[in-house]
Amino acid sequence: MNFPCYMQAILEPEGTPDPMNAAKILVLNGPNLNMLGLREPEIYGRETLDDLNAKCVEKAAKLGLEADCRQSNIEGEMVTWIQGARTSHKGIILNAGAYTHTSVALHDALLASELPVIEVHLSNIFGRESFRHHSYISPIAAGVICGFGSLGYDLALEAMAKQVA
Ligand code: DQA
Repeated sequence: MNFPCYMQAILEPEGTPDPMNAAKILVLNGPNLNMLGLREPEIYGRETLDDLNAKCVEKAAKLGLEADCRQSNIEGEMVTWIQGARTSHKGIILNAGAYTHTSVALHDALLASELPVIEVHLSNIFGRESFRHHSYISPIAAGVICGFGSLGYDLALEAMAKQVA
């Protein structure tokens, strides 16, 4: 917001993020992540996707970012959202679920977006079945965070704040 600078200092002490200028970050979750809380809780935890999204929105706001949280089970829809983000968003935090291990289409869409990408997984994919060890996202990601549950999204938002600063 624009106030005379003496008022600005009172209303918004230094370091207070201005939501009007917040960089928009697409926080995109892929297939089956709508089942969080119900699905294999011993691996993915008991938090629901709504819980996770609420935490992302709150964390992002503290960092001066706006988290635009979306989930889809449809690969093509994810491709379309990633393409759209090119002009409206400043970065992408992506948990592509099982598409991580299969999708050349997501890989290509992320490249086309020309945005910084941070790959997140709730579980440690390298400690699981060998088909989860390969990612089509990692080679084009600024970084990968896995194995820390929902904390991974917090860490990704912190890293993204530095990427878009
Ligand atoms: C996941 C790991 C993937 O291998 C799996 O298919 C998922 C979730 C994770 O967050 O740990 O759906 O991306």
